[in-house]
Amino acid sequence: MSMIPNVKALEGAIFASMEDRLSALLEMGLGLAPTATNLVAFAEQCRHRAAGLDISEAAYYDLLASDGASARTEWMALSPVLTVGETFLFRDTALWKLIEKTLLPDLAKLTHPLWLWSAGCSTGEEAYTLALAARRALPHRGFSVLGTDVNPKAIAAARVGVYTQWSLRGVEPTQLDGLLISGTQTVRVHDEVKRETRFETHNLLDERAYPPHGLTSFECIICRNVLIYMTLPARAKIIAGLASCLSPGGVLILGHGEATGVALGELVVERHDAGVVYRKPLAVAAPKTIQKAPARKPNARAKDGSRVARPVHRPKHNPKAAETRPAQPEDRAERARALLAVAARQARAGQVDAAEHNAALAMSANPLDPEPQVLLAALYAARDAFKQAETALRRALFLDPACIPALWQLGTLYRITDRNRQAALTFARLLARLEGLPPDQEALPFDDLSVQELSTLLRAALGEPAGV
Ligand SMILES: C[S@@+](CC[C@H](N)C(=O)[O-])C[C@H]1O[C@@H](n2cnc3c(N)ncnc32)[C@H](O)[C@@H]1O
Repeated sequence: MSMIPNVKALEGAIFASMEDRLSALLEMGLGLAPTATNLVAFAEQCRHRAAGLDISEAAYYDLLASDGASARTEWMALSPVLTVGETFLFRDTALWKLIEKTLLPDLAKLTHPLWLWSAGCSTGEEAYTLALAARRALPHRGFSVLGTDVNPKAIAAARVGVYTQWSLRGVEPTQLDGLLISGTQTVRVHDEVKRETRFETHNLLDERAYPPHGLTSFECIICRNVLIYMTLPARAKIIAGLASCLSPGGVLILGHGEATGVALGELVVERHDAGVVYRKPLAVAAPKTIQKAPARKPNARAKDGSRVARPVHRPKHNPKAAETRPAQPEDRAERARALLAVAARQARAGQVDAAEHNAALAMSANPLDPEPQVLLAALYAARDAFKQAETALRRALFLDPACIPALWQLGTLYRITDRNRQAALTFARLLARLEGLPPDQEALPFDDLSVQELSTLLRAALGEPAGV
């Protein structure tokens, strides 16, 4: 028998043990079930972070396995690359009807104000949807919503509360009271809703992070599409942690099949047409400790200093006159801007045909202005005419390759049509374009979105590792 070690077998064993180590770490830190894709991404990020910290990869793995504050920070920094953040407003209509019409009114009979938690809220859509449902269900009772996620970039974007028109897909207009359609390319959550909704980073798997932000007692916790990516022990641990934060009679709402195989302890399963709900019985639970309301943020945007009035570099106009007065050769550009302002106003009011008509007139009045093309693209995309939208954006970018609204709209269009690589490249190009601009400068005309806010949204969309 040869005494020379079989190099291939040795390499294989080393590789297998490395894979085991990475898998164990991934489960320990974020609860994630290892897949070929997330292991490769994890290994790459570890290399990157270790180099950044000027330590060896082995030392970095030891750091991740340790129990300290630095390990918690590192897991949060890694999370944007490793987790899936897909979400949208009013995801699962039937479930939101159940929450609004049945669950919240029943919970309001037990106590008030109600404390509601969207755990694993990504960029905030679920938390804001919860707030909107609660506003309708409990007009006079009062409530507070906490939205948490392990991904700090997603939480930063959630605090901005601005979404693409696409995220409203399938949402009935009647569901939108409280959501301010503030722009032609984006939807901004109304400040009133923002005041009822607070966002914090929180790792659901971290025992020391319970109760979240000192809040021990929630009447409703929604944690959907978070556990599907996790191992059974991680799911069990998180469900136990969430259950410990429920008040007596409170409900836990998970995604379809996310509790499969998990022992639910005292939670009672309630089956509704729209889905399963897990309720903490009134009798067995400890009495609810009434929590003091978390300090309300007077205005989430004010924290960033971004709510200040922004300079809007747009010529003065009279929209009424623009609608009626024929264009004069000497003021074509002025007329185009006025028509565009009218079109944008109509787009915001949902008068799509009129908006399209005026945007087209603006385009013919000043064919060198890229903005009418961008508005047309937004209107086309809203009615699924993606090819037309792309053509309009290509024209806009031909006229001005650095046009911020055109780049934003094109990246969004790529995302909608599942061209994620192109979307990432376009968003990265736009982020580079925004670098160095004054943070409070307006970035999207007609949308009241600052450079700082747009940069935050882009960083979350890019899912790059957080620089924490
Ligand atoms: C697919 S999104 C679901 C968003 C939302 N709940 C929904 O259903 O629309 C999953 C989110 O869970 C978050 N997540 C994953 N692991 C987590 C953990 N250990 N603690 C907190 N959040 C986590 C991710 O960062 C991501 O934003």
